Amino acid sequence: MSHRILITSALPYVSGAKHLGNLVGSLLPADVHARFHRQIGSEVLFVCATDEHGTPTELAAAQAGLAPRAFCDGEHARQAAIYRRFGLSFDHFGRSSAPSNHALTQHFYRRLDEAGLIAERSVPQIWSPTDNRYLPDRYVRGTCPHCGDPDARGDQCEACGTLLDPVELIAPRSALSGDTRLELRESRHLFLRQSALRERLNDWLDTRSGWPPFVVSLARSWLTADLKDRCITRDLSWGVPVPRPGFEGKVFYVWFDAPIAYIAATQDWAADQGRDWRDWWWGESAGTGRIVQFLGKDNVPFHTVSFPATLIGSGEPWRTADVIKGLHWLTHEGGKFSTSRGRGLSCEAALDALPADLWRWWLIANAPEGADADFRAERFVADVSKDLADVFGNLVQRVARFAATAFDGEVPTGAEPGPAERSLAAEAASQVAAIRAHHEAREFRRAAAETRALWARANAYVQAAAPWSELRHDRARAALVTRVALDLIAIGATVAWSIVPSLAASAISAVGGEVAGAPEWPGDVERRILDDRGGETRRVGLFAPITKVRVEDIGAA
Ligand code: 2FM
Ligand code: ZN
Repeated sequence: MSHRILITSALPYVSGAKHLGNLVGSLLPADVHARFHRQIGSEVLFVCATDEHGTPTELAAAQAGLAPRAFCDGEHARQAAIYRRFGLSFDHFGRSSAPSNHALTQHFYRRLDEAGLIAERSVPQIWSPTDNRYLPDRYVRGTCPHCGDPDARGDQCEACGTLLDPVELIAPRSALSGDTRLELRESRHLFLRQSALRERLNDWLDTRSGWPPFVVSLARSWLTADLKDRCITRDLSWGVPVPRPGFEGKVFYVWFDAPIAYIAATQDWAADQGRDWRDWWWGESAGTGRIVQFLGKDNVPFHTVSFPATLIGSGEPWRTADVIKGLHWLTHEGGKFSTSRGRGLSCEAALDALPADLWRWWLIANAPEGADADFRAERFVADVSKDLADVFGNLVQRVARFAATAFDGEVPTGAEPGPAERSLAAEAASQVAAIRAHHEAREFRRAAAETRALWARANAYVQAAAPWSELRHDRARAALVTRVALDLIAIGATVAWSIVPSLAASAISAVGGEVAGAPEWPGDVERRILDDRGGETRRVGLFAPITKVRVEDIGAA
């Protein structure tokens, strides 16, 4: 079904290199979904932004010797360039530090306060005289009271996994300066009274459908009697200021303002386009439009509890997500991706090594949907070589070259379709329908697997019908097979476009089609294959072979 659809991808933190795990965890599947919906004629708006506030950004900026805003300017531009190279087709890639997000975040705070959903409380905080600042829990280090690890973080001991409070650490010190004269000071903070919204959030969840089951279970596990109110302010200067007397110098917690940036990004896009953002986010104005959010599993609580609590608690008619497509992790050779520890491929290194579509294909075909997935260089090389070079690339190249030499680059007229074409056409039609259904259900691995099966079916047909051997004694039959193969390639490339846009566009143009924007989803596939009589003037061109990938190609990446 086509309709108006707003697609969001989790907002990547502005600092730190992004790796393939970040890409497949939300950005890439969101892009594939956006592209697919454009193909079926939906009115798509695909937004994302950099998530810019918070302590890690403030510290990274200080390390770079820059003010946070200047640091974020540079990092935002760098990320935007990487995502462009990956073919991510955002309609708007904004910033959580945009003025629109500041205004909207303060608006939500005021509405929630008026609704009695904000509580002011005293919170003991660790103060470092040397750093002259409050330290977030993870910037306090010390000895773990459970296992004795001397370098445990104040929020969790990585050695034994125990969750900690910084005051539990033995001999605590500042992770920034090593300061050991830490003090406990009381600081006033604001809490979003999520506990008061628990029932409404559960009722809201009851009205949603089409979510991966693990996302629903995770959401329900938070929406229990144990649901805690969430502290939404911090003692920091880089962020959205808190408009409340006594809160000068404090800002909202990054996780309070970041999801609001989905709306702010929509507002900024709408202002640019002369459109009304309410058509996506506001009550009746949004009509039957849908909101689909893509995110990694660690982001589930913020999108199923805190953000809907903000929207619903405001008492205004904000639209909430219709579907939350959560994804598990991609691991790297059996371990966690960590660009800071040099484990796993950064997006930049991956793009420097190989064209984006090779990565896009493998990541989507192996998306961590039902469980974690593991990236292994050898498997990647074997899969990509087989699917893209041996099956798809070889098919397109062979058929286009044959049509060019045997039929002078024209789509040939030929014999009437026979039983082989009729069963092929029926099968291809049901495969295309299955691919569409998997995309609609956001089942990306299945969509890729069925796409691969369609390519394999086309290959098997061409292999068996062998037009090159038919040419001498039955030219009309050779022409028919060539024409059917050209049609099948166009169909197989069109349905793969959302996953491998550049590759699909070159294949479509090699078989005489044109690609400007999203190629329309194939209509009646069976009739298209059986009724095409060829003879029109579209010209078949050449298709550059997809070179086989070697492990060494990505070894350095
Ligand atoms: O986990 C992350 O990368 C966060 N920056 C995601 C934020 S999503 C949203 F709510 F803004
Ligand atoms: Zn420990």
